[in-house]
Amino acid sequence: MRKSNHEGAINLTIEQALHQRHSVRQFTDQPVPLATVREILAAAQLAPSWVNSQPYQIHLAMGAPLERVRQQQAAQEAAGTPGTPDLPVMSRHDWSPQAQRNMADWSAGLGDAGKAMGATAAQLYHAPVVLYLTLPKGYSNWSLYDLGALGNSIVLAATDRGLASMTAYQFIKYPQMLRRELAIPADEDIIVGIGLGYRDDQALVNTIRATRMPLDKILTVHD
Ligand SMILES: Cc1cc2nc3c(=O)[nH]c(=O)nc-3n(C[C@H](O)[C@H](O)[C@H](O)COP(=O)(O)O)c2cc1C
Repeated sequence: MRKSNHEGAINLTIEQALHQRHSVRQFTDQPVPLATVREILAAAQLAPSWVNSQPYQIHLAMGAPLERVRQQQAAQEAAGTPGTPDLPVMSRHDWSPQAQRNMADWSAGLGDAGKAMGATAAQLYHAPVVLYLTLPKGYSNWSLYDLGALGNSIVLAATDRGLASMTAYQFIKYPQMLRRELAIPADEDIIVGIGLGYRDDQALVNTIRATRMPLDKILTVHD
């Protein structure tokens, strides 16, 4: 990656960014300058997409609008309102056996840190910036691939600028509330949310680390 020594320095290798990024479930209250987020998004826009369709929109929430969303989310969580995401969630039992085992292993390994997840999730992890990635209704399945590539480029570019990130269903489980509060057009499906901010190093919930399967469990070499 490019080297730079101005504020928001770009100084990690791609390999370092890949290793440093992890899901952060509690951010500090330190704000993130809009200019920094714009730099991250401009870099992430370099992600590839089907015939360069760039089919997505990004809704960036911060400040007062995000605080309104946070309050509404906390109220819905407190009321036990079930999520109604635009992208349906499949029952865990319908996933492949391997994926089910991985999800079960992750859940079982959370320990005490996992107990703190519900409360911080209800507060949108206290993220000072949330990005909502959307696709136009009727999108091609391929656009989901493109949106994922954009999302992962965002979190890596954020890591490169010393920011922590959280990609989560949690942000988009109440899409009607988001449409109302953020005036997200009705013809966009809200696919996923990404929180950005600074990691709270004191938070137990941030000690969660996820492992990966041995490479040879997912790799078949045809030589
Ligand atoms: C599309 C997507 C949605 C996710 N939604 C949530 C969520 O709602 N709550 C949560 O705690 N983690 C969520 N995660 C984070 C995953 O649990 C996490 O990426 C995985 O355990 C690997 O950990 P790592 O990101 O720290 O490497 C989500 C991740 C992705 C990619």
